[in-house]
Amino acid sequence: MKKLAVLTSGGDSPGMNAALRAITKLAASKGLQVFGALEGYEGLMDGTFRELTKVLADGSVTVDVEVDAAGGQGGTIIGSARSLRFREAEGRAQANMQMVKHGLEGLIVIGGNGSLTGAHVFSGESGLPVIGIPGSIDNDIGCTALALGVDTALNTIVQACDHISDTARAHRRAFVVEVMGRDCGYLAMASAIALAADAVLIREQGKSEEQLIADLSSVIRNGYARGKRRILVIKAEGVQVPCTRLVRLTEEAMRADMPSVEIRATVLGHVVRGGNPSYQDRAIAGRLGFAAVGSLLRGHSDAMVAWLPPVQGGMPTEDSSVQLFSLDRVLQETAAVIDGSSPVTKRRLALMEKASGVLAL
Ligand code: F6P
Repeated sequence: MKKLAVLTSGGDSPGMNAALRAITKLAASKGLQVFGALEGYEGLMDGTFRELTKVLADGSVTVDVEVDAAGGQGGTIIGSARSLRFREAEGRAQANMQMVKHGLEGLIVIGGNGSLTGAHVFSGESGLPVIGIPGSIDNDIGCTALALGVDTALNTIVQACDHISDTARAHRRAFVVEVMGRDCGYLAMASAIALAADAVLIREQGKSEEQLIADLSSVIRNGYARGKRRILVIKAEGVQVPCTRLVRLTEEAMRADMPSVEIRATVLGHVVRGGNPSYQDRAIAGRLGFAAVGSLLRGHSDAMVAWLPPVQGGMPTEDSSVQLFSLDRVLQETAAVIDGSSPVTKRRLALMEKASGVLAL
């Protein structure tokens, strides 16, 4: 293998650049050139690439200085997109043709559920070696404890909610803070624990609008009854009732016995997706990036490198915290994480259930 392609796809996540840097460094050390497809699968189909390596006069390969410098930056220097064209067989055939034309013998895809689904289908159809790296702040990807960006997103949420808590305590207010995560409540749950929030509202609880209002009212009433100055409720994006509506309806419901209750709504939105990657995201990106190149060179394909503190189950790589899983298994587990049938989701919900009474104290 002499030339590799890499792309970042779907919602960007902090750590993608660190993964690009690691991939490029390891590949360069083995004498391989790396080409980043611009704007994810779009660039792969259009044949628009940026070389991430640099070939020196003596023929040795090194890392482009900008790629080296970008490791600590959020976003992705090669751009990302959610490609509709790549969902069609015609688009994938075009991508295959471009890879052959440019002499690219392997592909690394960094992204979430949709991107890894594309990687799986493409590797089957093209016969080219493809390895995935989980990258999504949502932490909804199966077979990996963490995806790139999750830790940074959690740090951002915690910092934002610390700021909100200061002003909440000053005014003795209740806040509902909505965090991203698409259909997965992980960011909401994990940040709620770290912030000792009073409650968490996630799609997986399956609550109706009436239940949400009743729960929120009761959490706020109990909080004030205990003399709290800050009442913080973390709401996951996946809960369909918009934050402002929930707050307005809850204030109305509480009007009779708490006429002066003030609840504020804050939607953190894309703030959560940006920012320089944390130590943990950089470290995971580095180790997954190395393992992805290593896996390609050892002849693996249609698989994802996963971040897992040493456990049994996957095929070991040279890094004890990185295991390789077939993309088929990853995608099945991802579907189960999202539809709630995965033991991972059940465990998260059970833990949250246990914590809920305690958090409200
Ligand atoms: O999947 C990452 C994510 O940030 C989700 O949490 C969110 O639902 C979605 O992407 C937002 O997508 P967009 O940037 O296209 O609005």
